[in-house]
Order: sequence, then C-alpha cells, then structure tokens
Amino acid sequence: MDLIYARWQMGLSLAFHIIFAVIGMAMPIMMVVAEATWLHTQHAEYLDLAKRWARGTAILFAVGAVSRTVLSFELGLLWPAFMAFAGPIIGVPFSLEGFAFFLEAIFLGVYLYGWDRVRPTTHVFAGGIVALSGALSGAFVVTVNSWMNTPAGFRIADGALIAVDPFPAMFNPAAAPQVVHMLLAAYSAVGIAVAGIHARLLLRDPSHPFHRRAFAIALLVGLPASLAQPLAGDWAGRVLARTQPAKLAALEGHFDTQTYAPVRIGGIPDVNAQATRYAIEIPGGLSFLAFGDRSARVVGLKDLPRDEWPPVLPVHLAFQVMVAIGSWLALLALWAGLLAWRRRLFDSRVFLGATFWSTALGFIAISRVDRDGGRTAAVDHPGRDEDRGGGHANAGPRHTVRAFYGHLSGARRLGRRVDRRTILETAPGRGIQ
Ligand code: HEM
Repeated sequence: MDLIYARWQMGLSLAFHIIFAVIGMAMPIMMVVAEATWLHTQHAEYLDLAKRWARGTAILFAVGAVSRTVLSFELGLLWPAFMAFAGPIIGVPFSLEGFAFFLEAIFLGVYLYGWDRVRPTTHVFAGGIVALSGALSGAFVVTVNSWMNTPAGFRIADGALIAVDPFPAMFNPAAAPQVVHMLLAAYSAVGIAVAGIHARLLLRDPSHPFHRRAFAIALLVGLPASLAQPLAGDWAGRVLARTQPAKLAALEGHFDTQTYAPVRIGGIPDVNAQATRYAIEIPGGLSFLAFGDRSARVVGLKDLPRDEWPPVLPVHLAFQVMVAIGSWLALLALWAGLLAWRRRLFDSRVFLGATFWSTALGFIAISRVDRDGGRTAAVDHPGRDEDRGGGHANAGPRHTVRAFYGHLSGARRLGRRVDRRTILETAPGRGIQ
C-alpha cells in the first residue's frame, strides 16, 4: 500500500510542530530575563515585555501542545512496526518528556496567573522552571532521535528484543552533541528572530525604549547560542565521523576514501560521476575536523554500499546552507559584541539592518536540515523501502517524508535488520552499521 499522503501528512505535522517546539524552549528564557531585570531596575518596559512574552509563550505553548498530540497519534498510526519494536526502549525518554511537559504546563499556569498572587521571586522561579522544563522536554525527544542514529541499550537475538536497558539507550553516543546542538539551535533561531523584529522597529525609531530593551534581551539569548553553535556542530561532526561515516560522507559530498581529505565549501555532488564539482576545497580540512589530524583517513561514499548512500545532493546542499547560516550568525554575534563594547549596539543602522535580514535564518537552518535529511539518520538510510519489512510504515517512495525526520529513517534501518533476523549486539559507542 502506498502511504505517500499519510507520510506527507506526518512531514507537514513535523514541520509545523518544530517551529512551536523551538519557540517554546527559548521564549520563556526571554520572559524570565525581562521580569528579573524589571525587579532589578524597576523600568516599566521590562515588566511590559515580560507580560507580552508570557502571553506569546502561552499561546504558542498551546499550539505546540496540540501539534505534539497529533504527532503522537501519527507515530503509532504510520509507524506501527517501529513503535511495537522500539517502544520498550524509547518509552522511557518519551515518558520523561511527558513529565517535563506537564511540569512546564503547571508552572506556566503559576506564571500566568500568579502575577499578583505569589512573591516576585517565586514568580521568577516559576518562569525559570518553565524555561528549564521546556529545554528538558526538547532534550528527551532528541535523545530518542539520536538513539535512532546510534542505537544502544538493547540486543536482538533471532529477531526478538532482549536485554533492554533504557539508560544506555538514552545516553547513546550521539545524544550529547545532538541535544546541545538542538538546544542552541532553538535559542539562536528564536533569539535572532525576535531581535530581528525589534531591529526593524528600531530602524524606524532608534530611541524607542521598549524596542531597545526587547532587542537587547533577544540578543542576549540568541547571540551566545549563535557563537557556540559552530563548536557544537563541530562536536556533532566528530561523533558522526566515528559512528555514521555514510552520513558524514554525504554531508560533505565526499566520494573517495582518502587521507588529507578536503573540507568542501559549496559544490554540487554528481552521484552518477561520483564526484563533487565546483566546490572550494581546503586540503586536509575534513580529516582535521573529523579526527583532529590533517592526515587522517576519511571514508568516502565509494567505499560504502551503494544502496546505503543517502540522497547525496540534497543532503550536501542542506548541510552547506546550515553551516553558512551558522557561520553568519556567529559573525553577527561577534559584531554585536564589538558594538556593545563600544556602546553603539543601537546606533549602527547597518547592524540593525543585518539583524533584521537574519530574522528567519535560524528557522531556515533548522527546517532545511530537517527536510532534506541533512539532519539525521535519514542520511544513513538511502531508501530500500521495499526491504524494510515490518508493517505499513515501510510503504511509499523513499524520497518522501522519511527525509524529514531522521528518527523515522532510523526506524527503517532497525526494521530492516530485525526482519533479516540479524543478531545484533549494540552497546554505547557502537551503532548498527
Ligand atoms: C557552523 C555551523 C554548524 C555546523 C558545523 C553544524 C553541524 C551539524 C552536524 C554535523 C549535524 C549532524 C549531526 C548528527 O546528525 O548527528 C547537524 C545537525 C543539525 N543542525 Fe547544525 N551545524 C551548524 C549550524 C547550525 C545552525 C545555525 C542551526 C540552527 C539554528 C543548526 C541546526 C541543526 C539541527 C536542528 C540539526 C539536527 C540535530 C539532530 O540531529 O538532532 N545547525 N549540524
């Protein structure tokens, strides 16, 4: 049965949900910083900001809550075989995510209705818990995703799941870098987006106190995250080199196994010719980034089974977009630091303009990597829908939604192995290859 429409539906739901998920992680921090600053300075604009951001957080939280409910239904309906198989393993992080979500909802309630009912410090504390539980909620979900990239904490014998241990599963090798990278992505994207909106308004009226304060707080959340993001991305790349060489090779458009492997800026991979053209190549760059040694050998796609290749062109291009955006946002952060140091943060129209034009970039980076599978396990799983087995989750052309959310592709890979009755032993540090 061809479930392409159902899979598109899943993809659309995910595309919708991720926007609200990242806003739900970052917005409460801005709200709490605004309130804490108000308590400290008594400037009315900060209170006004805290209240407006709280209202925004509440509305977006509600939309996020509804869209996540849709997703949980879809996971069961579209991927029944995977959920039946992986439920005992990923049930723990999903349940913990549920707890984090409830915590967030309860404390958001305290925050929204407690303005005149609880002490100011208790009120700020409630907001802090909203921010913390939002981050935890995202982190737990990402551990599920990373488990699908580097499965751990279980064994399969004769197609049956044995020796399930949810904690090594949760703390799988890809978990830490992916969680850090995702949280930073949320803070960076949302912080810059909010700053961009206020930058536009400051361009009209540079002395407006409300927009100046909003701009400063949004930058405070977005810029440190943007500065740290390339480092987190580098960490994710190093872990990738050890655990998922096919994904790394596709991200980099790297076809030939070689020492002193170059890092490529731009370029268009040609799968038929098995080469990446028009790229600027920095010799030894990829070897160094992946293994900390310019002479290290990096496996190319040609040495990996053809049917394990990811869709190289979109993956490489999406990765390039993400890295370009990440590099630009890090530069923007440095620029802001310099201007703040010279006390000219609000006076540079060029900087305000640059921030305004960067409004959507973080969200593009997040959704580009998602959509084209540059993001996660999708790149490990080039297709083979036909031999995945395991229920109707496996139907449909391979170029559809599977590219959207990496973990679904991870499911396919596992499903394939289980169906072949391969006996696997997985432990942290060793994914299914
Ligand atoms: C120079 C900057 C960056 C580098 C080197 C980088 C590197 C990477 C790498 C190697 C991965 C794959 C990780 C994996 O699948 O295990 C990845 C995934 C990802 N990146 Fe980036 N990245 C950068 C900037 C950004 C920016 C600016 C954003 C968004 C604001 C972003 C959002 C993401 C997301 C959402 C994922 C998927 C995370 C996951 O698999 O859970 N990245 N990045």
